[in-house]
This record gives sequence, C-alpha cells and structure tokens, in this order.
Amino acid sequence: MQRKSVLDLHKLKADNQKIVMVTAYDYTMARLVDRAGVDMVLVGDSLGMVIQGEQDTLPVTLDDMVYHTRCVSRGLQRAHLVGDMPFMTYQVSPEQAMASAGRLVQEGHAQSVKLEGGERSAPAIARIVEAGIPVVGHVGLTPQSVHAMGGFKVQGRTEESAERVVRDALAVAEAGAFCIVLEGVPMDVATEITEKLAIPTIGIGAGPHCDGQVLVCNDILGMDLTFAPRFVKRYARLEEVITDAVGNYAKEVREGAFPAEEHSFKRKTPRRIAKLY
Ligand code: KIV
Repeated sequence: MQRKSVLDLHKLKADNQKIVMVTAYDYTMARLVDRAGVDMVLVGDSLGMVIQGEQDTLPVTLDDMVYHTRCVSRGLQRAHLVGDMPFMTYQVSPEQAMASAGRLVQEGHAQSVKLEGGERSAPAIARIVEAGIPVVGHVGLTPQSVHAMGGFKVQGRTEESAERVVRDALAVAEAGAFCIVLEGVPMDVATEITEKLAIPTIGIGAGPHCDGQVLVCNDILGMDLTFAPRFVKRYARLEEVITDAVGNYAKEVREGAFPAEEHSFKRKTPRRIAKLY
C-alpha cells in the first residue's frame, strides 16, 4: 500500500470527496489513525501544548518536529504525512525556510510541510515549492502569532479582517501551496475561500463547507475533558477510560491481585535447590 500523494489529495477534491486530516505525534497513534483510514496525518506544532505541556506552540523547535515526524512516519502506510514548521524556522528568510523544510522531509520523512501566514509567508512558500517540497498553507487563526493576535482569537469577523484572510489565502495559493488550512474563521469566509481556490481547503473551526477537516487527535479522543472549545467534537472520552484502567491496575497491584498465576512464568524443569549446608 502506498501513502497518498498530493495528486491523490487533489483527486479527492476533484471527486467532491471530503479530505480527512488528523494530528499524531508518535508511532502508536500514527498506526491507529492510519488504520482508521484518514487521508492526511499532520505532525502539528500543537505538540508543544498536548505533548510538551507548554502554554502555546512557540517553544517548539525544529529538532522536536523532526523527531516526532520521524516517529509518526514509521506508523503510516496509507496516509499522507505533513510535518509542521515551528516558530522562527521559516520567518527569517526564504533560504532558512527551504533548509528547515528540507530537514522535515530528509530526516523526518514528511511528504510535505505546513507553515503559517498568508501574504507575508508567500516568498517562503514559493522557495520551498521551488525546491520540490509540497507546502500546506495555514491562514486565519495562526497560533504562532498568538501575541500579535492578543490570544487565540477567531480571525475575519469584521469586513476588513475577513478581506485580509481572503487575501492571505489567495497569496498562499498563488505562491504554490497544494492545499491550505483555514483555522478559526467564520464559516462564510471559509466558504468564500473554498469557492475561490482551486486547491483544497482544510478547516478547523471554519465550518462545514471546506474541502476537508482537521482536528487534534487528543481533542477527538477526549484525552483532556477540561478542554472543550466550540470547534471540537469528541468521539471518545479516553481521559476517563485511561484513568479508570490505570486506577484498576494500581488497585490490583496494591491488593496483590495482579500479577496472577496466568501472568507469571513457569520453569520447564523443576528447580533443584542445592543444599547450602
Ligand atoms: O499544530 C497543529 O496541530 C495545527 C492544526 C491544528 C491545524 O496547526
């Protein structure tokens, strides 16, 4: 079985089929989401928050992303693998962007890379694409600009801001991105962009009219039930499943109920215990 290419993903849009993307950060989760049949797996810099426990994505390094992307690559057989470019690994210059993207592909085994920003990121996108690396754009609520936005805020709510998001999306497509994430934008703005662009749009908090959807795997699975933003739908409550399971294990160890005989090994021949005196 071969991993999906950019051509396969474009064909999904042409055939009017929704594109399903989810994040993963390690081999075990990658194997599971691949078996579930998703089209794209994103090793997002959201790992700064859900794996590393940071407040935002800004502390994530390129080494972190290369490491996790490589772990995920080992678990995928069918899904297309996207590696996320962390803060300050593409903003300095198009040459820096190309070198960073190159590491995600060469060392992390990503098939494409994602970076945030519209008009301002267009030169970086063009340079990476010129080097033969497919790029996923990302506009609207761009978490690496958390301080500039004054928080994780929906973008495009006013006329002026909506126009900026549309301009950004057009610039990303123009620069050569093969697909684009629309995060935290009103659904009519996402619909307008989806109608205007030839490349697929993948929404997160952008309504149902995008060509595909992406969510963080930990959110879909309910790994942290205290986190419940409007754009997330939980398909499981693994926080409860995991704490119950580990709680039962702890109880049985303390009570001496685990391990039982069936979890223990036996010798093939009876042991002769030598007399010491
Ligand atoms: O880092 C990430 O996981 C993302 C997605 C949520 C789009 O950028």
